[in-house]
Amino acid sequence: MTTSATRADIAVIGGTGFYSFLADYDEIEVETPYGAPSAPIAVGEVAGRRVAFLPRHGKHHDFPPHAIPYRANLWALRSLGVRQVLAPCAVGGLRPEVAPGDVVVPDQLVDRTHRRINSFVETGAVHLPFADPYCAGVGGAVLAADPAGVKDGGTMVVIEGPRFSTRAESRDYAASGWTLINMTGHPEAPLARELRMCYAAIALVTDMDAGAESGHGVGQEEVFALFRANLERLTGLLTGAIERLPDPSGCTCSTWAEGLELTYEVPGA
Ligand code: ADE
Repeated sequence: MTTSATRADIAVIGGTGFYSFLADYDEIEVETPYGAPSAPIAVGEVAGRRVAFLPRHGKHHDFPPHAIPYRANLWALRSLGVRQVLAPCAVGGLRPEVAPGDVVVPDQLVDRTHRRINSFVETGAVHLPFADPYCAGVGGAVLAADPAGVKDGGTMVVIEGPRFSTRAESRDYAASGWTLINMTGHPEAPLARELRMCYAAIALVTDMDAGAESGHGVGQEEVFALFRANLERLTGLLTGAIERLPDPSGCTCSTWAEGLELTYEVPGA
């Protein structure tokens, strides 16, 4: 059961290198029909708003991308009342329009994962419309928080991981016109939509992936180091975005499947 101390309207899901966000918080253990989330959820206030923080890889980076309990994570946040999700993540750049250190709000997603449960729907004719995978209202708040410093739009391809891509794979993704590459953006985005939450990815470019690299290819040390170096900027951006988030009640993300018989009941609604 949620109380005023455990309730949150907004969530930040921290990615690689991003394991805490709130200064003062209550830590809440949430159980879901899909098991426990990656970590206890921290709930506190930012700019007068109730905010939940969940490190998607766990507090000590216990879960690699393919083993993250995505369904439990999104369900747990929604059960606390969350309606809007800001999802920072580390990404590789695939094209010259982006460079390490850039922050991008992508507007399209390509799913190249292959062994993740990507839905709460278990039976029946319930098909999520997903032409626009990200919420423009939440993405717009991030862009408005730093119009000169955040890039607007781009396609993020999500690979299974945990290995990085070969040079040939990377060149193939770039030739397809895709801008960014990552390992966690799917199924987080469709699961959020299935729970009628607004969701936007905030991609920090940590490397230029293997196709664009002339040297050794991508290694995890550079990804972590670049993320660490940009953490303060990212947390400032998130605070600015939280201050500017629109009221979610008018957003189409929150009305998906109204009138349809879902095989699950959206928690916290
Ligand atoms: N996360 C950060 N950099 C990445 C890359 N090059 N490929 C996949 N995921 C990443």
